[in-house]
Amino acid sequence: MLLVGSGGREHALAWKLAQSTALTELHCAPGNPGIARHGHCHPVRGEDAEGLLGLARELAVDLVVVGPEAPLVEGVGDALRKSGVAVFGPSRAAAAIEGSKSFAKDILRAAGVPAAPVLSVARPPCVIKADGLAAGKGVFVCRTQEELDAALPAAAALGQALVIEELLEGTEVSVFALCDGANTIALPSAQDFKRAYDGDEGPNTGGMGSYSPAPDIDVNELVDSIHRPVLAELARRDSPFVGILFAGLILTEDGPRVLEFNCRFGDPETQSLLPRLEGNFLDALAAAAAGDASGVELPAGDEPAVTLVLAAGDYPASGDSGSPISGIDAAEASGALVFHAGTALRDDRLVTNGGRILDVTALGATIAAARERAYDAAALISFAGARYRTDIAKEAAAVV
Ligand code: AMP
Ligand code: GLY
Repeated sequence: MLLVGSGGREHALAWKLAQSTALTELHCAPGNPGIARHGHCHPVRGEDAEGLLGLARELAVDLVVVGPEAPLVEGVGDALRKSGVAVFGPSRAAAAIEGSKSFAKDILRAAGVPAAPVLSVARPPCVIKADGLAAGKGVFVCRTQEELDAALPAAAALGQALVIEELLEGTEVSVFALCDGANTIALPSAQDFKRAYDGDEGPNTGGMGSYSPAPDIDVNELVDSIHRPVLAELARRDSPFVGILFAGLILTEDGPRVLEFNCRFGDPETQSLLPRLEGNFLDALAAAAAGDASGVELPAGDEPAVTLVLAAGDYPASGDSGSPISGIDAAEASGALVFHAGTALRDDRLVTNGGRILDVTALGATIAAARERAYDAAALISFAGARYRTDIAKEAAAVV
């Protein structure tokens, strides 16, 4: 099979897929040095539909799993499917649920699923969002006029239409459903930490850490009331969704509200989620890609997981490249999993190559135990400017 992508999420996917006895060969495009431990990496970018098509033909792969959103939104899945390859990942039309906030709002309205209300004027408190893809950096939460004054030009600079939303209060949770176009299978919930700094301060990022499961929620109930009607609406519009439908929810006093939909696994939620999954993951993805996941079961183990993102010093403003990384072996020897997110090999040395550099994941009997193990392991890793939040899963760990 062929896995498309090069981040920490894809390393976690490669690690999990490599455990399947049914896997014969794992190929990755383009992959990263961590992924290369589990499969063969090819220098083809995820957005290069023709390159991927050529690779899939040349390798005669039976399944392509697409990790990131950009290739899906650009229609890479359609090109592969048209050539007869099974793809785990939605078509361009279905991926618009992530690629266009206004399309997502339209689907939600038609499906009768509650979302954050849209406002016609930008007045604080409110949230300003770029309509298209912005790698988690197109959302500006404005509590004050000052924040709004700063957000409007920054959002306009992204060169996209803007959506203004009511600012909602509540706990956020990521809920994932594996979809075959018609059926949904709920996966364990997770929570991610989007802000750059401790105490949820600073700008939004792709995500600075995660844990799974999120406390006190019933994923089956949420998937029934949110993902299922959305899947039905997409199918009704002749855009059946195959892949992971990921709802970013906020649990308000009035009930759950959808903040966004994504058309793929979350990053870094996946790094906390996959180590907890039991059942045959590869078979589940293949069944969904083939259009019938009705018999699939992917139960979660009892142990919670915590993931820390080790980022470049200036992330999210900029990344880092070429700084040597050390301590991964020691971190792994302590029992943690280390997933590569933005790394490269230079003269046989592992160096930084991106904004989010590594993800450290640990399981434990409790969230507190998993958290302690993850922080102990992260402390063993170093590279110039390395930075991580110190409060990932802190509140959840304090709840017994
Ligand atoms: P999104 O990319 O739409 O999920 O937004 C990124 C983050 O911005 C979310 O995880 C929330 O923390 C925050 N956010 C987005 N929309 C809202 C909203 N309507 N009310 C409050 N916070 C929001
Ligand atoms: N962690 C949020 C995302 O993957 O969009």
